[in-house]
Amino acid sequence: MKVGYIQTSPIFGDKDKNFEQINMIVSKRKAKVIVLPELFATGYTFVSKKEANLLAEDLNGKTAEFLLDLAKKTNAIIIGGYIEKNEGALYNSAMLVSKNGVVGNYRKIHLYFKEKIWFSQGNLPFKVYSFKEFNIGLMICFDWFFPETARTLALHGADIIAHPANLVLPYCQNAMVTRCLENKIYAITSNRVGEEKRGLDHFKFTGKSQITSYNGEVLSSAPGEDIFMDIVNIEIEKARNKSLNDFNNIFEDRKIEFYNNISH
Ligand code: ACM
Repeated sequence: MKVGYIQTSPIFGDKDKNFEQINMIVSKRKAKVIVLPELFATGYTFVSKKEANLLAEDLNGKTAEFLLDLAKKTNAIIIGGYIEKNEGALYNSAMLVSKNGVVGNYRKIHLYFKEKIWFSQGNLPFKVYSFKEFNIGLMICFDWFFPETARTLALHGADIIAHPANLVLPYCQNAMVTRCLENKIYAITSNRVGEEKRGLDHFKFTGKSQITSYNGEVLSSAPGEDIFMDIVNIEIEKARNKSLNDFNNIFEDRKIEFYNNISH
């Protein structure tokens, strides 16, 4: 089964240009899943909540429309990040869209830095979406830092984690090797490149989008500074076998009676 990502360089606040950037690079090569970065249509470095609010949408907005078009054009399941406005609150969200419409929505639970000012913490449980050939869960960027995120998705049956990101620290790409190995799952980390200097903040985004395999192998690694698309082949059944050898099964060997006695 083929899966891929598109690494972009969003222009802050210019949704049309950011959509165009993806239309320019999306290839005719077929994939079942394509992951786009976190907040790919808007950029990341807001200077006020009001500014984030002006760029926010719901699941019927122009970003959903664009993702639906992309899903129709590629025949893939598309996952991409956006600012969600729901009942007056803003969330750093990602939607999962098929050619038939929006199928899923995830609100980032572990907010990074000033995201804590602009956004409300995600209030939806981790969920795995099942398709004919694969089960996929969503997490967004800094969620990787909390091993419980990938573990929860894996225990819910995810074969693949779609991971839209706007990474500014250098650790995630290496860490995903362990996240995938310890859960025997695949992950598609779709990061962005470029710099944003706005207000008091200056971020350089690290690129190096990555597809990581169930055994910790890096199947695709994008450049650190360029717009880039890649598609690789994965063997989904490998993510369903949690045995390491005749004696060890990484899920059955968990000793939850020793993990549960924590009150903080
Ligand atoms: C991040 O979570 N965008 C660093």
